[in-house]
Amino acid sequence: ATPGASADLARKLLLVGDHGEDLKLEYLRVLIDGKLPPRGPAKKVLVIGAGAAGLTAATLLKAAGHQVVVIEANGNRIGGRVKTFRGVFADKALHAEAGAMRLPDFHPLVLALADKLKLNRRLFYNTDVAPGANPTGTVPPVTYQAFTGELWSNGTDDGSFKAPAATNRTRILVNGATTSRAAYAAAPTKVNRSFGDTEDTVTTTAAVDKALAKVTVAASGSINDKLSAWEAILEQYDGYSTHRFLVEEAGWDLARIQAAGTIENLTSRLHYSLIPTLMDRAAITPTGRYWELEGGTDTLTTALAAPLRNDIRLGRRMTRLVQTAHGVTVETTAETGSETSCDGAPVNPVETFTGDYAIVAIPFSALRFCDVEPAMSYPKRRAVTELHYDSATKVLLEFKTRFWEKGATGFTGGGCVSDSPSRFTYFPSHAPDGSKGGVVLAAYTWSDDATRWDSLTDGERYAFALNDLERMFGPVVRREFTGTGATQSWARARYALGEAVVFTPGQLHELHAAARTVEGRVHFAGEHTSLKPAWIEGALESGVRTFLEVHPR
Ligand code: FAD
Ligand code: ARG
Repeated sequence: ATPGASADLARKLLLVGDHGEDLKLEYLRVLIDGKLPPRGPAKKVLVIGAGAAGLTAATLLKAAGHQVVVIEANGNRIGGRVKTFRGVFADKALHAEAGAMRLPDFHPLVLALADKLKLNRRLFYNTDVAPGANPTGTVPPVTYQAFTGELWSNGTDDGSFKAPAATNRTRILVNGATTSRAAYAAAPTKVNRSFGDTEDTVTTTAAVDKALAKVTVAASGSINDKLSAWEAILEQYDGYSTHRFLVEEAGWDLARIQAAGTIENLTSRLHYSLIPTLMDRAAITPTGRYWELEGGTDTLTTALAAPLRNDIRLGRRMTRLVQTAHGVTVETTAETGSETSCDGAPVNPVETFTGDYAIVAIPFSALRFCDVEPAMSYPKRRAVTELHYDSATKVLLEFKTRFWEKGATGFTGGGCVSDSPSRFTYFPSHAPDGSKGGVVLAAYTWSDDATRWDSLTDGERYAFALNDLERMFGPVVRREFTGTGATQSWARARYALGEAVVFTPGQLHELHAAARTVEGRVHFAGEHTSLKPAWIEGALESGVRTFLEVHPR
């Protein structure tokens, strides 16, 4: 790798600015507190893509007195990979997420933005709780402890909030036997042995924690300690796949690889770089606290876009971007067909937009199909071409009653795991007042697990997901199914062209820096330009970053 590349990545990962400042703190002050730095001349900025990243950049630019035009390919909606299915279920009060669903407690930008936009946030139970259990006390404010010592908060915490305890009643169905998570935790050996000859007496969660201990950076410690720890990890292990690390460095045998692969959703990432596994592991933990937005995740992008009502052009797909010494021109086509069907196509007429600068906030997988003139730098072109996008597919099924909440083994929220094609099943954390039923995320899959589903029709997806759920919960599943489902493949979505960036071994070093560099008058935002790829928080960080790049120019 280029000398200093790992140190540079560590600084980007921990959001350490060029002058040692805490960039997260700076972003909070800009996006949430509205403290905008001094402006250069007012300019006209074309923002391509009305997802979380583009909308963030555009609202900030507009608030700062610049003129913005947001160019969005989708003719029906904004929000991109934040997408809520609403009004499609038999019970019209129910909604469910096609994309982002959980907001980690330590993603302060997205949580504070939701608070600022006056959206109700409530707990998302990544681990199940007793049926109908509710937290007590008041929802705490968002706080961020900067490494420079300052404490940022959007309110005062009265300390009263208490989340309900986890019950761990959700199920694990592997190798033909069903058990509860609590039973597995109490006596892991039987399930472990069903994966092959092993004496493993700890859960797969504990096994993964142990294996990753030597590449886990302590939360305590100074920023300089953390920087050097991350630099060493990035330098040594970005070239390792997760599989190679577990076998060569942690000494895992096949039975453990297969057990943890199945139960911990590791199989889908064994071939990816170890680093995204570490990043996700920090974000998705059984003990971490998560939030969701009561009205659906898309209430965030909708509320964010409100001030841009007259500045967003839907149904305009960028096909060509030309820049000169004086400005940028974006050519678009109008669109036919739906965002998830294969029968649409770009059509004339072409509408051309001009501006002083552009912020390209579409996935690189989408930019790959646009002409850019003059050609961008070679490192940028290579990042556009090569950056790996994972697949993710969701199959949601609606039920007349919440049968999983009934009886002594009932639970609310959380998720089951199985070795069936459905793999991961999530249950709703809350129910709207008066609704007896609920929508289950029957199958949430990544990587190769997802592409299997992508080959199927919607109807086939519902049928197979129903079968899998029946195997876990019995005939009640079929009795209570309303006949209505919803499904989303992100690899087959025409304007997303993938779930999100997940680096293959070495890509972080080879491609990340170039993903975010400025090309003349063209700036780049989106989750793929951040080091929180696959999270809204990363998209927001990139939106604020590009605003700060363009605003003073
Ligand atoms: P996008 O949202 O993709 O926005 C890009 C926009 O550009 C889109 O509106 C698109 O239509 C438009 N566009 C594309 N091509 C063109 C073109 N040629 N011209 C004009 N416009 C174009 N994050 C979380 O925080 N929590 C979660 O639980 C979570 N779960 C997820 C689950 C799934 C299945 C997926 C797919 C994502 C999940 N994420 C989650 C990640 C989060 O949704 C994304 O990181 C974030 O929404 C990305 O925002 P963005 O603005 O970078 O990109
Ligand atoms: N943020 C997304 C979620 O909460 C997915 C993150 C990881 N994606 C992946 N393909 N490994 O589910």
